[in-house]
This record gives sequence, structure tokens and C-alpha cells, in this order.
Amino acid sequence: MGKLDEMVALVTGASSGIGATTARELAGRGARVILAARRADRLAEQVAAITSAGGQAVAIEADVADTASLERLAREAVAVYGRVDALINNAGIGSAKRFEIVDEADIERMVSVNLLAPMLLTRLLLPGMLERKRGVIVCVASVAGHVATETVYSATKFGVRGFALSLRRELRGTGVHVSVVSPGFIRTDLTAWRRAPMPGPEVVATAIAGLLTHPRREVVVPASYHGAIAVERLAPWVVDRALGRPRR
Ligand SMILES: NC(=O)c1ccc[n+]([C@@H]2O[C@H](COP(=O)([O-])OP(=O)(O)OC[C@H]3O[C@@H](n4cnc5c(N)ncnc54)[C@H](OP(=O)(O)O)[C@@H]3O)[C@@H](O)[C@H]2O)c1
Repeated sequence: MGKLDEMVALVTGASSGIGATTARELAGRGARVILAARRADRLAEQVAAITSAGGQAVAIEADVADTASLERLAREAVAVYGRVDALINNAGIGSAKRFEIVDEADIERMVSVNLLAPMLLTRLLLPGMLERKRGVIVCVASVAGHVATETVYSATKFGVRGFALSLRRELRGTGVHVSVVSPGFIRTDLTAWRRAPMPGPEVVATAIAGLLTHPRREVVVPASYHGAIAVERLAPWVVDRALGRPRR
């Protein structure tokens, strides 16, 4: 695919967690990075950390749940360095509420941020990549996109995997590569409620950096989650039992 120090990468959800760490990792390896999210102050902190370490980065404030904001993001991102070679669709939100108490607005917001936005942003940036016969798109899904655990969240993550894996097939031979990263539990704001020890976002950032130069279909991080994914596929009733008692 080329070298990272020749790439321009756009990372969504780069104000914290996996996205911020990925932006720093890519910039540290020489890529020019565009960081997008809603919290401008957090983005500015990340850009300052990157530039003070000698890297190149620019922030664009954007709400990926808003189509006009997404269109502006795509336009401005291309304008910054003249092109976008790598798109990392990372922005995401979660909720583990029982389905009967999730309100309609929450469902729509999660589908919009986790599933619709990656598709729309990819559609906006793909024509330029196809024209240059060069590009990488990485979608951050989840182990919850293999193991059905969290209704709406799982629906969006199964969905984004379906989108990315199909697009990968559709784009074979074009020079544009599509990969999926499916993290298990990672220590970020999203999992702040969880007490158990978890790996930090660096493991996902390293996997994403690897995919930009050596695209693969899908990477599960940490790899130990392959076990749970295999059990879900081959013996889902084992997962039913492991996840708890039936409700009365
Ligand atoms: N942590 C885990 O265990 C885990 C596991 C599997 C998959 N993932 C996935 O990894 C991705 C990153 O999550 P994280 O764990 O790093 O959590 P995080 O620290 O909460 O980061 C989420 C990022 O998404 C951005 N975001 C949320 N809504 C947005 C919107 N409407 N417009 C633009 N940006 C938005 C947030 O920025 P602003 O709030 O500033 O907009 C933030 O930068 C998500 O897709 C998540 O589903 C995480």
C-alpha cells in the first residue's frame, strides 16, 4: 500500500481513547493526520501532543451524526493536505441498557454514529481514492459485532462489519483496500464502568497502523477473543449459558 510517512490519514473519534491513540501512533510513524470529533478542546490537546513530538496534524470539529457536518468534514479534510489516503472510521458510542428501556432517539443516534456515518464518510472519500487507485479504509467494529451481546450496539457493529467486508470484495483490484478491526474490551472512556483489567488503546492503534501498510480482511484485538468468537459461531448455546440466567 505504500509507506506511512507518505500517507494522509483521517481518524474519526480522535478526541479520546482508540482514535486519539491511533492518531498519535500514525503521526509518530510519519503520517500526516487529520483528527475529527465534536470536542474541539480535546482535539486541540491531541494535535498539540503530536506537533510537539515533531508530527504533523490538524483538527476538524465535526459531528458524524450530522450529514451536513460529515460533508463539511470530507471537504475540509481533502483541502488540508490535498487528499485523504487512509480513512479510519472509529467514532462510536455504546450502551448496554436493556432494549425495552432504550428510547428511540438513542437507537437512532447509535445507528447514525456507529453505522451510517462510516458508510456516508466512506462514500464521500472513496471517489478520490478510486481516481488515484490508492487508499485504505479501516472500520472499527467490535467483538460485539461477532458475539451478540448488546442489542443496538451489536446490531451496529455486525452492520459495520457487513458493510466493510462487502466493500472489500467490491473494491478488489481497484487499489483501495478495506479492513475491519474488532477490539474486545479496551480501557477507554467507553469502558470506564468496567472494573476488570483491560489492555490500553495502544494495542488497537498498533493494529490499525499495521493495516494501513499491510491491509487484511479483519483483525481481532487482543487475539485471545478469537476463542469467544469461535464458540459463538460453533456453539452459541454455550455463550447463552455463560452470559447469565434467563429473566423471569
Ligand atoms: N473500548 C472498547 O472496549 C471498545 C471495544 C470494541 C470496539 N470499540 C470501538 O472503538 C471505537 C472508539 O471507542 P473508544 O473505546 O475509544 O471510546 P471513546 O474514548 O469514548 O471514544 C469515542 C470517540 O468517538 C467520538 N464520537 C462519538 N460520537 C461522535 C459524533 N457524533 N461525532 C463525532 N465523533 C463522535 C468521541 O468524540 P467526541 O465526543 O469529542 O465527539 C470520541 O473521540 C468505537 O467505535 C467503539 O465502538 C471500543
